[in-house]
Amino acid sequence: MATEYVRRFSRTERTLHWVHASAFFVLLGSGLVLYVPKLSELVGRRPFMKDVHVYTALAWLAAIVLVVAVGDRRGLARTLRELDRFDEDDRVWLRRRWTRPQGRFNAGQKLNAALTAAFAVLFAVSGGLLWLGERDTRFRFASTVLLHDGLMYVSLVLLVGHLYLALIYPATRHALRGMTLGTVRRDWAEEHHAKWQP
Ligand code: HEM
Ligand code: HEM
Repeated sequence: MATEYVRRFSRTERTLHWVHASAFFVLLGSGLVLYVPKLSELVGRRPFMKDVHVYTALAWLAAIVLVVAVGDRRGLARTLRELDRFDEDDRVWLRRRWTRPQGRFNAGQKLNAALTAAFAVLFAVSGGLLWLGERDTRFRFASTVLLHDGLMYVSLVLLVGHLYLALIYPATRHALRGMTLGTVRRDWAEEHHAKWQP
C-alpha cells in the first residue's frame, strides 16, 4: 500500500521557522565571537563581527515582519491558538511523560514555542539597549548584558534538545519532513499526535 501523508506545516510556517533558525545561528555565532575572548582573538575582526551581529538582528526582525505580512496570516493565527491551548492531557503529559494523547503539538513543543517567542523579544530588547547604551549613557544598565548573555546560555540548552529530537532521536526525527517538505506520514501523526485531525 502506498504511504499516506498529511500536511503538517504550511509554506508560511516553514519559511518563518527557517528564517528564524538561520538568523539565530548567525546571531549565536557572531555573539559567541564577541563573547569568548579566545574566539575574538582567533577571528581577529571584532568590529566586523559586531556589525554582522547588529545587521543580522535588524534583518531578522525585518524578515519576520515581512513573512507575517505577505504570508498566510490566518493559518499562523490558527497555529498560534493551537500552541497556546494547554489542556489537562498536556499537564499530565509533562508530569508523566508520553502518557497522554497529544494534539497537533505536544506539551514540550508548546513550551518550546512560548520560550522561543519570549526569548526573541527579550533578545531584541536587551540587544537594542546594548546598542543604544553605547551611544547614550541614559540607556546603560548594569544588568542588560547579563540578561543578553543569560538568554544565550538558556537558548543553547533548548537548541541542543531541539536538534537532538529533530535530527537524531529515531522516534521523533520524522518531524523534519514536516518542516522541510510540509508533510508527515499519517501513521506517524496518529502515533505521536493522536488528538490532531489534519
Ligand atoms: C534583535 C536581536 C539582537 C540584538 C539587537 C543584539 C545586539 C547586540 C549588541 C548591540 C551587542 C553588543 C556588542 C558588543 O559591543 O560587544 C550584543 C552582544 C552579544 N550578543 Fe546580541 N543581539 C541580538 C540577538 C542575539 C542572539 C539571538 C544571541 C545568541 C543566541 C546573541 C548573543 C550575543 C552575545 C553572546 C553577545 C556578547 C555579549 C558580551 O560581550 O558579553 N545576541 N548583541
Ligand atoms: C538545523 C536547525 C533546526 C532544525 C533541524 C529544526 C527542526 C524543527 C522541526 C522538524 C520542527 C517541527 C516539529 C514538529 O513536527 O512539530 C521544528 C519546530 C520548531 N522549531 Fe526548529 N529546527 C531548527 C532550528 C531551530 C531554531 C534555531 C529555533 C529557535 C531559536 C527553532 C524553534 C522551533 C520552534 C519554536 C518550533 C515549534 C515548536 C516545536 O516543535 O518545538 N528551531 N523545528
